[in-house]
Amino acid sequence: ALPYDLAGVRVLISAGGTREALDPVRYLGNHSSGKQGYALARAASQRGARVTLVAGATSDPGDPAAVTVVDVDSAREMQREMTDRAREADVVIMAAAVADFRPVSVAGAKIKKGDSGPAPIVLDTNPDILAGLVTDRRDGKIASETVIVGFAAETGDEHGGVLDHGRAKLRRKGCDLLIVNAVGGGKAFGTEDNTGWVLSADGRETGLPFGSKTLMASRILDEVAQLVPDGRVH
Ligand code: PMT
Repeated sequence: ALPYDLAGVRVLISAGGTREALDPVRYLGNHSSGKQGYALARAASQRGARVTLVAGATSDPGDPAAVTVVDVDSAREMQREMTDRAREADVVIMAAAVADFRPVSVAGAKIKKGDSGPAPIVLDTNPDILAGLVTDRRDGKIASETVIVGFAAETGDEHGGVLDHGRAKLRRKGCDLLIVNAVGGGKAFGTEDNTGWVLSADGRETGLPFGSKTLMASRILDEVAQLVPDGRVH
């Protein structure tokens, strides 16, 4: 039986990839399917949480029962929804693959082939949503007890390199938990299965068994539940 340890806890999750428009028909995107974030939403809801899912582009994993789903497109839209809704959350989990860059401008009409060859795509930096949430919590815009969880998608061959990057990212982003996935070579993005580690700001490191994204979600929520103060029911 599933533990019912998140009863009444307000959990906000981002899932899927952002799309950064180039023109009315084209965008820069990534291979996130949303499956990991959706699995988290479903598992949290089954454990009694009140779940809101902010979903970018997905391979349509099917909306989970009893979960509020908010669809977004770009990183900046996702940032608005996550930042506003984090004020009403006890736990925030950033499982989305957010584009770090976006085209500086969006052409009003479809870009034509032209005579002078392909036009360069000039990029601007997107806001870091996760880092912004941590700053908002520090500045008191988000309750200090709010648990903030990030993911890290790291390419690398051997586990040591991936974990080292994860540890550095945990310190840099300042969240409470960081879920490290090894990606690249067909891993994690778009797959049914996943594996990795949960790194916690207090130095604990827990390996996650290879298995379905549902199993991964339940192991992650075991760690999250330990950080949620007792009696946090709204
Ligand atoms: O969707 P699936 O196909 O199921 O695949 C799942 C997944 C591999 C996408 C997921 O498990 C995952 O790892 N998500 C995070 C991917 C990512 O963007 O990692 P990152 O190392 O670039 O970013 C680190 C963290 O900062 C993430 O929590 C990310 O959501 C967040 N971020 C990143 C950039 C940005 N501009 N703003 C952010 O908030």
